[in-house]
Formats: sequence, structure tokens, C-alpha cells
Amino acid sequence: MVTGAQPDVLVASNRGPVTYAPDEHGTLVPKRGGGGLVSGLSAIGPSGRGHALWVCAALGDGDRAAARAHGARLDPADTGGQAVRMLGIPPDTFASAYHGVANSVLWFVHHLLYQTPLEPAFDAGFTHDWAAFEAYNAAFADALAEEAAPGATVLVQDYHLVLVPGLLRARRPDLRIGHFSHTPWAPPDYYRLLPDAVAEAVLRGVLGADRAAFLTGRWAEAFTDCCARLLGARVEHDPLRVTYEGRTTAIGVHALGADADFLRERAHRPDVAERMAQLREQIGGPERKTIVRVDRTELSKNIVRGLHAYRRLLEDGPEWRERVVHLAFAYPSRQDLAVYRDYTSEVARVAREINDTFGVPGWTPVLLHVEDDFARSLAAYRLADVALVNPIRDGMNLVAKEIPVVSDEGCALVLSREAGAYEELGDDALTVNPYDVRATADALRTALTMAHGPRAERTKRLAAAATALPPARWFLAQLDALRS
Ligand code: G6P
Repeated sequence: MVTGAQPDVLVASNRGPVTYAPDEHGTLVPKRGGGGLVSGLSAIGPSGRGHALWVCAALGDGDRAAARAHGARLDPADTGGQAVRMLGIPPDTFASAYHGVANSVLWFVHHLLYQTPLEPAFDAGFTHDWAAFEAYNAAFADALAEEAAPGATVLVQDYHLVLVPGLLRARRPDLRIGHFSHTPWAPPDYYRLLPDAVAEAVLRGVLGADRAAFLTGRWAEAFTDCCARLLGARVEHDPLRVTYEGRTTAIGVHALGADADFLRERAHRPDVAERMAQLREQIGGPERKTIVRVDRTELSKNIVRGLHAYRRLLEDGPEWRERVVHLAFAYPSRQDLAVYRDYTSEVARVAREINDTFGVPGWTPVLLHVEDDFARSLAAYRLADVALVNPIRDGMNLVAKEIPVVSDEGCALVLSREAGAYEELGDDALTVNPYDVRATADALRTALTMAHGPRAERTKRLAAAATALPPARWFLAQLDALRS
């Protein structure tokens, strides 16, 4: 038990607001992250909603060393003043849970990513990883049960922690427990490719919550369909809720929006201006149009098909050669797993191929950067004539919401109908079936030729829709709904 007031609002997520890595002298240096949860949780204090604690996992050796050094709570100076407890889960257990189950299996199921006849393989390796996943979820449930004030509210995040609501309820029935899914949810026919016991454990785990929430109505319904079909649970509509084994779980939808104030301020700092100048030079001429995409290097983002669509645009429309540049920026993600590494290599290979086929001195058709550089991404956002967001499936996709907010001149959005953001942005975007390369190439062409006036008008409407529920309000709305 820690000293000080016991928290009455707890957030649990795999990735916390800070990670640690040693510098050249071996000193642990914190790196703070951003995102909806960070802004959301920092709204708690000022809103008078209570006393917050964030429980997260140590992701690597640096984090584990920090967790050991700081004991139950990290130094608030490293975390932006937030109270954070980082769990030093044993490395093998963490690797099996995070890589083996969360990012190889649950991520793949929710994003409909299995493609080869040999996948998935639910063999002995998976049985071992699943046991680790249970232990990792139990470690979170133990920590939350230990920390939470009587009757506290606990907001459990994402697919990594799907078992936590059920485990926590067994330990602390006095708590109000919510679960939020940041990914899509798979429809029952796809979801049931999981071993029955695993599928049931996940659904029961989430149903341990008083309220389970999603980014869109579509993902919420997929979840309730799975509960009905796989568990035989009773699903009621208006309001949407699931009753199973005598308990009812309310189902909510909160469409996380972009943080306009933060983005506009950040996008006008000198480091972004510097990157804009560099990019302009690489693009090579003010008359050249830009197609921008920014993703994690991750299969659901569909970067390779996006490159194929761009290639088709250049193939079918020679007039576009030397008149357009594709800025494809990707943050390295989950590179400990071969399947993500291979995908990253494939992205680089296809980009190179396009440059080798079409490039001429003074014009590089694709500028691919695989690097974590937020300032450069914002620079690209500001410069974009066209934004390409074509995921196979995506819980929301905040890039689609961020670009219209910071775009300098207005930007046409080519958007996959399978992104959660489609529900709010579909009317003013050029929407595509993400598997259809030809249609994506056509949409890119239409986007590139859109006149300035309509493009600016659409961008304004996109920005308004994108910022309807900024992170702090998104978070507080969940908290209030759970407590009411
Ligand atoms: C998605 C997930 C998040 C996750 C993020 C980055 O957005 O919903 O829970 O944190 O990807 O992935 P990573 O594996 O690097 O945490």
C-alpha cells in the first residue's frame, strides 16, 4: 500500500505516459508520451473529479530499472505530475503476453489480419503465451485491487488487459469498473477462429466491467454480437447492454477526437518550421503536390497497398510524374516481432521500387522515413495537399482527424471506410475500400485535382467533426457515465 491519499480514479494500460532508457552514462532518462489518455487523465485534478493513479507495465529494461528504483510510484517530475505505478512484470511473462498474445493474436483478430493458410497456429507455444497473458492481467488486477480507494472508479484500457475487469471484480466487488477498447472488435464469424476457451475468457473478462466502451457503434455492436453468439448472452438495445450470468454490462461509445489546442500550438513551434523548410527542399518546387501519410509500421495500416495505389497513379497518369511527391512517414512499431519487421521491410522495398522505376534527377517520387519524429509529421500535416489514410481496419485513426486541424492550405482526405474515423469524417472525405488499389488510385487522382475552394471548405468541416470530442472531454465523459 502506498502512502498519501488513496486514488479514487485509476487508469490501467499496458503503455504508460513515460518510458525510460539509459543515456551514454547509464543514467535513466524518461521520455514522455502523448495521446488521448495523457490529456484525459491530466483533466481529472482540475475537473474536481478526484485523485488519479495510472497503472502501467514496464515495457523494457529501462522501465524495469526505473520501476525498481522508484518503488511503488514513479517520480512525478518524469510523468508530467501524474501519479504512476509501473509494474515490473518478469520479462518472459511480459514478452509472451505483449508479443505472443496481444500483438500477434488479439491485434490480428480484431483487425482481420490473418492471411496465410498457416496462420493462426494455436499450438503449444500459444498455450504457454496464454498462461503468461493470464498472469500479466492478474498482476494488473492485483495492483489495482491493492491501490484503489473503497468504491473507486477504474478505467481499464484496450486488448492487452481484457481479462482485468473480471479478475478485478473478483478481488474488489466494491469498485466501478470500465473497459475501453481502442481497436475495432471483430464480428463473430472471424472472432471465433480463436480457441473457444480463449474467446470465452476474453468476452467474460470484458463483461466483468460495469461498462464496456468502444470508439464507434460498429465496434460496440461487433462485441455484443460476439457475446450473443459465443456466450449466449442476452443483448438489449436502447440502451445497448449485455446481460450474462445475472450481471449486466452497459455498452458505451465515445469517439475520441483530436486535441486542436495542443496540435495547433505544437505545429507552430520552430522545430516544425525547420522541418517544413527541409521537406520543401526535398519535395523540390512549390508547384509540386504532396500526398502525405503518417502511420506506425504496422500491417493494419495498409501502407503497402497505399504505395501500390500511388504507383498506379504514376503509371496510368504520366502527367503526374514530377508533379507530385508522396511523403510516407512511419513510426517503427513492435519491431521485436518478425511479422511487423517483415512488413516494415516490404514497405521500404516497394517505396524503393517506385523510386527506381519513376525517379529522375531532381524528383524522388516517394520520401519514406521510418523514424519517430513528431515535429516532422506535423510539418508534413501542414504541407499536405492530400492525406492518405487507408487502413484495412482501424479503431479510430487519429491521423485522419489531426491533418485537417493543422493543414495550412486545406487538404483533401482519402479515407478508408474501415477506419473508425469514417463514421464522423466520411461525408467530407473521398472514401475507399482499402483492398481496392485501383479505387484508391482513382481517389488520389480526384483528391489531387480538387479545386482550392471546395478543398478548404471540406477541410474546415473535417476539422470541426474531428475535434467534436477532444481527449479531456472524451475521458471525463467515460468517467461520468461509469459513475452515474
Ligand atoms: C494502438 C493500441 C494502443 C497501443 C498503440 C501503440 O493504438 O490501441 O493500445 O499503445 O497501438 O502500440 P504499442 O504496441 O507500441 O503500444
